[in-house]
Amino acid sequence: MTNMILLGAPGAGKGTQGVNLAKIYGIPQISTGDILRENVRNKTPLGAKAKAFMDRGALVTDEIVVGMVIDRVAQDDCNEGFLLDGFPRNLAQAAALEEMLSKSGRSIDHVIGIEVGKDELIKRLSGRRICKGCQASYHAVFSPPLETGKCDKCGGELYQRDDDKEETIAKRLKVYDEETHPLVEYYTDKGLYRAIDGIGGVDDITGAITGAIDRASDNT
Ligand code: AP5
Repeated sequence: MTNMILLGAPGAGKGTQGVNLAKIYGIPQISTGDILRENVRNKTPLGAKAKAFMDRGALVTDEIVVGMVIDRVAQDDCNEGFLLDGFPRNLAQAAALEEMLSKSGRSIDHVIGIEVGKDELIKRLSGRRICKGCQASYHAVFSPPLETGKCDKCGGELYQRDDDKEETIAKRLKVYDEETHPLVEYYTDKGLYRAIDGIGGVDDITGAITGAIDRASDNT
């Protein structure tokens, strides 16, 4: 069983690496951002509450997000492990996660911190494009689709996320520094934090993550 968290600033590559890691470890990738966006698209009551926070680059309230993660992690496909992408995002969420897992005798094994400098984060976020159909992620320069504006996988139309506009990117990076970055120290103190250089080829970074997990597992 491997329970892991992907930590990193907006644009660090959590979603991109999460797809590879979920396949390698055979565990579900649980992205709180994806679940929230799906609720916004489907115009659910939860989506209606979350939208205003997301559009301005702020964190959605802990009450909404923690409840959502509790429900998701309780599902059967998480029995053999799970990968959290974008959760926890502050110390209160980390404490709620620990409490929730301890009730079922579980705990976090690895926290993967994907580290990328601010200039690169801004380039990645401003060039990101998402498929309206299957939600696959592209980058206008770093990983463009074969045909501009069209998804390679399903032919769907590509769009730019509302929160990937310049003003909102700046706000999201500030929120990360102030509210999420303290988790690096929190998980370092617990001996769970594995720092990974997030610059380089996607598959090379995946290899660095699996290597760090193997080394940490050998030491326990
Ligand atoms: P969320 O969707 O989680 O956004 P985020 O954390 O800001 O992360 P991103 O999805 O922007 O980036 P990523 O690290 O996944 O990078 P990606 O792989 O896509 O959250 C959105 C909003 O939801 C939040 O602002 C908040 O409002 C709310 N929310 C979510 N969780 C919450 C929580 N727990 N509590 C409260 N609110 C919450 O890559 C980015 C780009 O870079 C892509 O174009 C990709 O192709 C490219 N790229 C990736 N890797 C590389 C590489 N190695 N080299 C070059 N380019 C690369």
